[in-house]
Amino acid sequence: MPAACVVGLQWGDEAKGKLVDLLAPDHDCVVRYQGGANAGHTVVCGSEVYKLHHVPSGILHAQVQNFITPGVVIEPTTLISELTRLEERGIDPRRNLTISERAHLVMPWHLLEDELMNRLVVHGENIGTTLRGIGPCYRDKVGRNFAMRTVDLLASDLRERIASIVEAKKKLLNGMGGEELQRKLCADEIFEMAQAWSQQLAPLIGDTTNRLLDELDAGKRLLMEGAQGSLLDIDHGTFPFVTSSNSSGVGISSGSGVPAKWLKRVIGVAKAYSTRVGGGPFPTELSCDVGQKIRDLGHEYGTTTGRPRRCGWFDAVAVRYTARLGGVDSLALMMMDVLAHFEEINVCVAYEIDGQRTNQFPCEASALRRAIPIYETHRGWQQDVTGARHMDDLPELAHRYLARVSELVGVPIGVVSVGPDREQTIFTDRKKLTTLVA
Ligand code: IMP
Repeated sequence: MPAACVVGLQWGDEAKGKLVDLLAPDHDCVVRYQGGANAGHTVVCGSEVYKLHHVPSGILHAQVQNFITPGVVIEPTTLISELTRLEERGIDPRRNLTISERAHLVMPWHLLEDELMNRLVVHGENIGTTLRGIGPCYRDKVGRNFAMRTVDLLASDLRERIASIVEAKKKLLNGMGGEELQRKLCADEIFEMAQAWSQQLAPLIGDTTNRLLDELDAGKRLLMEGAQGSLLDIDHGTFPFVTSSNSSGVGISSGSGVPAKWLKRVIGVAKAYSTRVGGGPFPTELSCDVGQKIRDLGHEYGTTTGRPRRCGWFDAVAVRYTARLGGVDSLALMMMDVLAHFEEINVCVAYEIDGQRTNQFPCEASALRRAIPIYETHRGWQQDVTGARHMDDLPELAHRYLARVSELVGVPIGVVSVGPDREQTIFTDRKKLTTLVA
């Protein structure tokens, strides 16, 4: 049996965690395949709110196996505190979580490098990373010499390995103007820390690649959980204002080891408006009261960093691009309740760049910065929809908005979310969405 995928279609924070938690019971395994502690997936269950950074959003379901696969970068201190917080709330993540031995580790030097690099301005703007060491860790993975993987925590030469990397990193940080930062690196302290990580994590570390292939051969159903959003994809996003992994659908096979032939359904998740955290172009951004109103109503503050998110209207040019890129066949439109408070709602249907109208998403950040959104204005439904449980419960104007967004993006609506709770979700056809044909 094959796999379904949940992929963010904007700049992250599309409420993928909520959807994965909801769909998890229809699957046997939930798989995180890229990103790291930069992600903040929120799952709301009644009065309980769970904020997950590494742990897959299927963890609340005891019968579902959860996997953190090779494409993820793990910051062990954050992961361990995440596990502890779950344990304190009566959930035992150790019963159903496996971490790939191939996943790379975000080490203390990566956090320092992120801090140092983040001071730099690129293309006139700061990338504004989450400071979780993501870029430096992926850089070392690709560079190979200074990389550490979870399997290394179990190696007999762990002390020597750490000592040699610390020596090199001190020189590098020094050379890059980070004299004060390199002084924070002490090989002995890091080794002791790594030993403690090893004790905590060793029972969870295993070969997720073969495990997942075995699960597929045994007819099990997988749910692949993307982190960040497709517009932050290192290859296809708004480079250089992106994250360092393939956060669009193209990262699923490389990050998890699951061959593309198994990926049968892609659910693209987008908010009914747009948000972005950190630097980079954002054509439909509203730097005015309307943007602030969206921020307040949508509680648009980062789960990981607490930073206020930049808010704007739905950008159909961008989402059509990412939906095509991801091979999306069903659209989940989230936060429809937030738009209930607006008399008029704009949707960006095209850009004007240097006097030319286009509906192609440009490759260059500078071109996107020059893009003037061309809007279509819709009448708001101005009616509380938080209690809607079926499509029929939604007002006519909300239906019209959904239909137009679906038409512009080129993908049918599969899910509509009207609030943070599990219950506040409408499936247009749940059976169809969760039935996977091999
Ligand atoms: P990094 O992933 O920490 O290197 O950050 C690179 C860019 O991606 C920054 O603009 C971040 O704000 C953004 N980013 C990274 N992870 C997330 C996320 O989970 N949600 C939203 N934005 C993110």
